[in-house]
Amino acid sequence: MVTQLTDAFERKFYYLRLSITDVCNFRCTYCLPDGYRPHGVTNKGFLSLDEIRRVTRAFAALGTEKVRLTGGEPTLRRDFTDIVAAVAENPAVRQIAVTTNGYRMARDVRAWRDAGLTAINVSLDSLDARQFHAITGQDKFDQVMAGIDAAFDAGFERVKVNTVLMRDVNHHQLDTFLDWIQSRPIQLRFIELMETGEGGELFRKHHISGAVLRDELLRRGWIHQIRSRSDGPAQVFCHPDYAGQIGLIMPYEKDFCASCNRLRVSSIGNLHLCLFGDGGIALRDLLADDDHQDELRSRIERALTHKKQTHFLHDGHTGITQNLSYIGG
Ligand code: GTP
Ligand code: 5AD
Ligand code: SF4
Repeated sequence: MVTQLTDAFERKFYYLRLSITDVCNFRCTYCLPDGYRPHGVTNKGFLSLDEIRRVTRAFAALGTEKVRLTGGEPTLRRDFTDIVAAVAENPAVRQIAVTTNGYRMARDVRAWRDAGLTAINVSLDSLDARQFHAITGQDKFDQVMAGIDAAFDAGFERVKVNTVLMRDVNHHQLDTFLDWIQSRPIQLRFIELMETGEGGELFRKHHISGAVLRDELLRRGWIHQIRSRSDGPAQVFCHPDYAGQIGLIMPYEKDFCASCNRLRVSSIGNLHLCLFGDGGIALRDLLADDDHQDELRSRIERALTHKKQTHFLHDGHTGITQNLSYIGG
């Protein structure tokens, strides 16, 4: 009998975000402006393929139906395709997704799909190659765009694109983004910039509420959809003239956390109850062999009783989160 992880506020957790590395090859201004620095990595390195197999098996037995592989940049791992296949060994896990900066997609997306990947979210903050370079520190705009095309060619019906909304950087480019999704089945999600430990100054300069875009979309005849399970944390808007959709992720809105459905495991095997929480609960000591699955499941269940009702971002408390690359966003 599969149990269903539920917390003290009656929220159900069927979605695991599993970070498999905290290394990234991009230097996004709001995340890793100075590039990757080793952070929290023990001499054991990141979770191995077998450890990933064991942790996902325990979560699957606790009702997890969806696993998202995150990083850092998850596709930097040479065994990325094997990791997808290992997660796919759990029949209860019906969706296997990745959040990627997209630089490997054009080359590898077909192999990922063959291994069992079912969904892709790509980060793309600008449709202008020069601005893309300025934000990410990488000259890979064409490669990422080709990667999105390759995902459609490989059979993904819809791709989600994440765009971090930044005042005076891209907040006034709505028309350009809308033109882009007019004939493409992309769900373009604008994510409100979140304050992290290292990003306070940037936050004060560039944070702007997604409500500005919501008002503009409604004014232009976009229709707010009833929330579906596949929308995740986004409020989704559609328009009859557009193949694509717009999503708004607004973590500073009241009640954002009421629909929280996800738990996170970091690349060194710590369970995090919130993106902006405390140091995490170590699981790795139970991942060395197949004999500790019972103990692993009870540790996860016990930990969940401590999950708080919401994050404390409104009060400027970012917890241990120095940047989102460590826990995987
Ligand atoms: P779907 O599973 O496709 O709905 O995607 P997702 O939004 O869950 O995953 P994705 O990795 O694309 O997340 C996009 C961004 O939304 C994350 O990197 C975060 O910036 C933000 N986000 C996702 N989940 C949470 C959350 O639980 N809390 C907060 N504050 N932000 C979140
Ligand atoms: N605020 C909002 N989104 C962020 N991301 C990374 N850092 C931040 C931040 N401070 C987003 C990336 C990517 C996803 C994994 O997290 O753009 O789409
Ligand atoms: Fe890398 Fe993603 Fe952070 Fe950009 S936001 S530096 S792509 S982990």
